[in-house]
Amino acid sequence: MFKNVIVRKPSKTLCEGITSAPELGKPDYNLAIEQHKLYVEALKKCGVNIIELEALEEFPDSCFVEDTAVLTKKCAIVANPGISSRNKESLYIIDTLKKFYPKENIEYIKSPGTLEGGDVMMVGNHFYVGKSARTNKEGITQFISILEKYGLTGSEIALEEVLHLKTGINYIENNNMLVSGEFINKKEFERYNKIIIPQSESYAANCIYVNNTVIVPLGYPKVKESIENLGYNVICVDTSEFRKIDGGLSCLSLRF
Ligand code: GLY
Repeated sequence: MFKNVIVRKPSKTLCEGITSAPELGKPDYNLAIEQHKLYVEALKKCGVNIIELEALEEFPDSCFVEDTAVLTKKCAIVANPGISSRNKESLYIIDTLKKFYPKENIEYIKSPGTLEGGDVMMVGNHFYVGKSARTNKEGITQFISILEKYGLTGSEIALEEVLHLKTGINYIENNNMLVSGEFINKKEFERYNKIIIPQSESYAANCIYVNNTVIVPLGYPKVKESIENLGYNVICVDTSEFRKIDGGLSCLSLRF
């Protein structure tokens, strides 16, 4: 069960966020704010306490607060984002983490290691970590050795196509794994009940499980139906403005 969720309000500079899909156009700030509010409402329906942090205008991508840390039951690991325009975002999460974790249980990924939370997928006590353009080998080595200090485990997953690990694969508990693209046939995920995301709905591989509800991006009916057929309560949330800057449902929060 998750008790708490941290979100950060979108900044007005959001339209300058990093994107691999400029053809989708720039995000509309007012619409992004409205969508963010509905996202928070959906999370509240899942019974979690919301910690809403103020916007950071200096960082266009800072509403994607997931990339700044990895929060486990035993420790918080402050990330070290692997792109210069986002690197210092992680400094702004530390004070909030101190309210939930003792100082000695707050760990740090240090340069030359880089790691972004979007590259980390939790499955029970195991954490899969994507080696990506943002998370490097040294960051993964540091991350796994921190996990092991706390009796947790981690393993590396090589990425070829997507920005972050969770852009393409997400665990929704009960052995159910949403898989798209390069993850469909990866041997590391053979043991899960794989829900294959069709190419036409690949964006919706990024859903989040929160206390027996799965939040699904609005507009992906095949994915919605597959998840409903598994017996989950489903809430759809429109993330069109965040998609324009390579963001999805998981990127918008830290759940713990
Ligand atoms: N625009 C989100 C990211 O590149 O991290």
